[in-house]
Amino acid sequence: MGLPPAGLGALWSLLFLMKILLCSSLCPCLDPALCEPVAETRDFEVFVFHVREKNWLLYDWTQITTVATFAEYEPDLMCFAHSKGVRYVLSGDVSLKDIVDPKIRTAWITEKLELAQSQFMDGFNLDIEQPVLKGSPEYYALTALVQETTEAFHREIPGSQVTFDVPWAPNCVAARCYNYTGIADLCDFLFVMSYDMPPQLFTEWVAGANSPYNETLTGYDQFINLGINPKKLVMGIPWYGYDYECLKLTKDNKCILFKESLLDSAAQQVPYSTIMKQLNSSLSGRLWDDFQKSPFFNYLDTQGNIHQVWYDDPESISLKAAYVPKRSLRGIGMWNADTLDYSSDPVSKKQTKMMWQALTP
Ligand SMILES: *[C@@H]1O[C@H](CO)[C@@H](O)[C@H](O)[C@H]1NC(C)=O
Ligand SMILES: *[C@@H]1O[C@H](CO)[C@@H](O)[C@H](O)[C@H]1NC(C)=O
Ligand SMILES: *[C@@H]1O[C@H](CO)[C@@H](O)[C@H](O)[C@H]1NC(C)=O
Repeated sequence: MGLPPAGLGALWSLLFLMKILLCSSLCPCLDPALCEPVAETRDFEVFVFHVREKNWLLYDWTQITTVATFAEYEPDLMCFAHSKGVRYVLSGDVSLKDIVDPKIRTAWITEKLELAQSQFMDGFNLDIEQPVLKGSPEYYALTALVQETTEAFHREIPGSQVTFDVPWAPNCVAARCYNYTGIADLCDFLFVMSYDMPPQLFTEWVAGANSPYNETLTGYDQFINLGINPKKLVMGIPWYGYDYECLKLTKDNKCILFKESLLDSAAQQVPYSTIMKQLNSSLSGRLWDDFQKSPFFNYLDTQGNIHQVWYDDPESISLKAAYVPKRSLRGIGMWNADTLDYSSDPVSKKQTKMMWQALTP
């Protein structure tokens, strides 16, 4: 009964061969040419984080050059992006403690590379937001990770892009003491997260801008002063804001915070679409802080507590974005493209269009 061992061996070889053929040739696009990785490089990057919503078709594809995804892989998005000459790259994190071991590091890179290849993707965005001590094993492992990931992707996927997310300034900001110059040299470019700048920067416990103008620009100056080529820096701006519950609001609109605010959930991230809806029913309407160059407003919640919301809108974004050509940076991008209202409501449509336009004022 059954197949003799030799026959079984042959059958397994055949199945194995079929598996290879299937895995390497199942292009989901109508035009198989769209499964080729994007090869051209563009002078100006518009780097977009896509996180969860399904509204990517309504993004401004006349501007985008790269979509980095935290969402599930979508073959339709890959085919569409490639039809526009746009790179579609994976994003992700790995525990630095683990990848101090070169074997584990290589295995992680191989896994990500194979995933990208099997999905016809164009690179990887390394989003390692972990504290690192200067000179620690993790410090060296991180630089090696960037080098080895970039080498592997560039070798195996011609034209592919490997990028690295950094906080708004170097010099151990957010306890991230990285080898910034080494990392910038070893990958295609850095995405600078010019947001989540804590109000602790100020001496008082008051709510403040998520991405204040002065600190934002100072951050780029610091990267450049380290010797990093401006063409290795993409400005990351926030398409979200923070909602603070105030202990009290002073006459000049200072939202005094509960001391524990920044430790617990009293400061909530809010998407731009929600902010625009709240603004309409706020107590104050849109206010402008000329020192931080950021809009904000006050509102009362249903329990009667006062809140202050700090956010970015086309005015504050254009001011920062003007620095990109002025300092010859590589481009601009946002966390994250999904936060706008892509509905057909005419007011929302106009707001959404203006947010995209503010990237290149
Ligand atoms: C940073 O990385 C580069 C590239 O690997 C290396 O040449 C340099 O020595 C490193 N610098 C420090 C301070 O570790
Ligand atoms: C930032 O603020 C400091 C101190 O107020 C000022 O000296 C500096 O010129 C400002 N920098 C920018 C880029 O506006
Ligand atoms: C804000 O309120 C006005 C008047 O009620 C309305 O016409 C407009 O559509 C609202 N805008 C948004 C974004 O909800």
